[in-house]
Amino acid sequence: MSSVVFDSVQRLPHLLESHSLASNVALLFDRNGHRLFCDEISLALKRAKIAHRVFVAPAGESAKSFRVAERLYGEFIKSGADRKTTLVAIGGGAIGDLGGFLAASYLRGIPLVQVPTTLLAMVDSAIGGKVAINHPLGKNMIGFFYLPVFSLIDGRFLQTLPKRDVYSGLAEALKYALIQDAPFLAEFETRFERVASLEPLAIERVIRRSVRNKLRVVKEDFNETTGRRAILNFGHTFGHALEALTRYNAFRHGEAVLIGMLCASALSKNLGFLDEESFERIVRVVKRFPLPKRILKRHFLDLDERAIEAAMASDKKKERGAIRFVLLKKIGEAFLSADRVPSKEIHRATREAKSLLK
Ligand SMILES: NC(=O)c1ccc[n+]([C@@H]2O[C@H](COP(=O)([O-])OP(=O)(O)OC[C@H]3O[C@@H](n4cnc5c(N)ncnc54)[C@H](O)[C@@H]3O)[C@@H](O)[C@H]2O)c1
Ligand SMILES: [Zn+2]
Repeated sequence: MSSVVFDSVQRLPHLLESHSLASNVALLFDRNGHRLFCDEISLALKRAKIAHRVFVAPAGESAKSFRVAERLYGEFIKSGADRKTTLVAIGGGAIGDLGGFLAASYLRGIPLVQVPTTLLAMVDSAIGGKVAINHPLGKNMIGFFYLPVFSLIDGRFLQTLPKRDVYSGLAEALKYALIQDAPFLAEFETRFERVASLEPLAIERVIRRSVRNKLRVVKEDFNETTGRRAILNFGHTFGHALEALTRYNAFRHGEAVLIGMLCASALSKNLGFLDEESFERIVRVVKRFPLPKRILKRHFLDLDERAIEAAMASDKKKERGAIRFVLLKKIGEAFLSADRVPSKEIHRATREAKSLLK
């Protein structure tokens, strides 16, 4: 398993050298990351006399496309990138996924380093080695399990992150509490404001604990074959549907997952797994997250439950014709449901989540 290093990005040159990855480096940013962070990182590499080139992708989900990948392969080839070139992906989940995809495929694989700059990437996407780009017919359809040599987490990146993206990342962190780490929920119940305002100690605790949680699941089921890793998809069956219905343009990933987790918790309760009291605890925490009102109304509250279910049915996680849900037995214990969930229960859970978010 690759390592996760908590350190300043100023230490990147040293880390590359100590992993024998410094002979030649390709830095990949999106446009925003390039503007915000390239000078500092490039200067640090220059000082350490590490040869490097800079590559830039569009910001957001559109980076994860064949078109962008094809252009970047071309730029790699022209720049003379070879098997010894280390690709350092510096950015949010989109750049991590694109960079990982490129590193896994270019010349049948070159070393990859992840430097996450969004909270979501720090607590989730830069850890665990799933990388992918999107196909017009579905998100994350083309990809690999491909581990970075290391992921470097520097909380300082978060200073420029928009608030919405902070909450989006926090939603993925909350997921770990719900699926396998019940004591972690207290962090959201008692220190929510401190964490959300990025108080250094508070946010660092959340990041470290999330990383530990993610690594634990990934170690048990790296290739997602036993069903264990699938619990990380808690809230994602509903969440991906909301994202797909808006062509990934309205919700942040974590926002859709947050709504999805509320739906999946309601479903767990209605199917008789999760007790009422635990459900109410979850509702109270979910309600602390501000969701953008107009987007929420237009793309969830006003939506027909059947449209959401139809979008789920085309999700890649459907198996043997049935939509599969990750459900909660209790807070801190999730499982992948084997049984088909009746449509009327899906609709009922969705309606319940809507009424709670109104
Ligand atoms: N591979 C995995 O295991 C995994 C897990 C979860 C999510 N994902 C993927 O991650 C993506 C979402 O990631 P995301 O939410 O990080 O989105 P993102 O990468 O699109 O970043 C969100 C926005 O923040 C900007 N940004 C990044 N860092 C910044 C900073 N420090 N300051 C200011 N702006 C900054 C970006 O330019 C972008 O505009 C989705 O494509 C999702 O599928 C992958
Ligand atoms: Zn997610």
